[in-house]
Amino acid sequence: MERDPQAHWLETETALYYARAAVRIGLWASEKSLITKYFHPTDRLLELGCGGGRVALGLLQAGYPQVVATDFSPIMVSLARAVLADHHPAWERCVEQQDATALTYPAADFAGAIFAFNGLMCLPSRAHRLAALRSIHRVLKPGGILIFTASDREKGANAAYRAKEAASDDEIPGDRWHESDTSPVFMHSSTEAETRSELSETGFSTMECPLSTEVAQDGPAVEAFAGETRFYIATKS
Ligand SMILES: C[S@@+](CC[C@H](N)C(=O)[O-])C[C@H]1O[C@@H](n2cnc3c(N)ncnc32)[C@H](O)[C@@H]1O
Repeated sequence: MERDPQAHWLETETALYYARAAVRIGLWASEKSLITKYFHPTDRLLELGCGGGRVALGLLQAGYPQVVATDFSPIMVSLARAVLADHHPAWERCVEQQDATALTYPAADFAGAIFAFNGLMCLPSRAHRLAALRSIHRVLKPGGILIFTASDREKGANAAYRAKEAASDDEIPGDRWHESDTSPVFMHSSTEAETRSELSETGFSTMECPLSTEVAQDGPAVEAFAGETRFYIATKS
């Protein structure tokens, strides 16, 4: 039976898991470090794939008031709104339903964008990832900054594990379904060369792409939640 890559994100249990992460885990030290380095508190910022509001809450609490947090999943949007409203009544208005591959904001509307914790890699194909990158590129100002992460299948902590996976002839390298407590999760793990090339094809210049462990020590809670991943910081050229 054909599996639906979006089903996992539409389930209440999944959304509750990410809403709990917003409260219990918060911003990773590595995210905080790069956000502080690249985003200014007065920047209008777009978050893609906000889940339960983990990054939006962290940004708002860290003094970035101009955040628009978006997700395609209605249940994620509802729970992110609830999490943010619990912290400040006005913050629930920061959350909007948007599909990252077809953003409806005006061109050049945002100074920065963030697609945290491998969200871009949850899109079902390369064509979808390119559509999202093009869509984000359109709504960023010239010189605007995009921060996102992608699990690296070639280098770092995940490489040995990925190398052990038997790839069938018809499988796209890096595409994988992971079992979960709810429906299976689709996730693509990329290589640095592949993601740099997708960025360049969609009009971005890669500024740096460190592994999360090279940015900061995130600690055991983040390690259990997310493992090691690679950050990409790119600018709209
Ligand atoms: C791995 S979760 C990360 C959630 C959150 N950013 C965090 O770090 O806790 C990926 C998120 O991307 C969202 N997502 C998947 N496809 C999307 C799309 N096409 N447009 C917008 N969001 C999408 C999912 O609903 C989910 O909330």
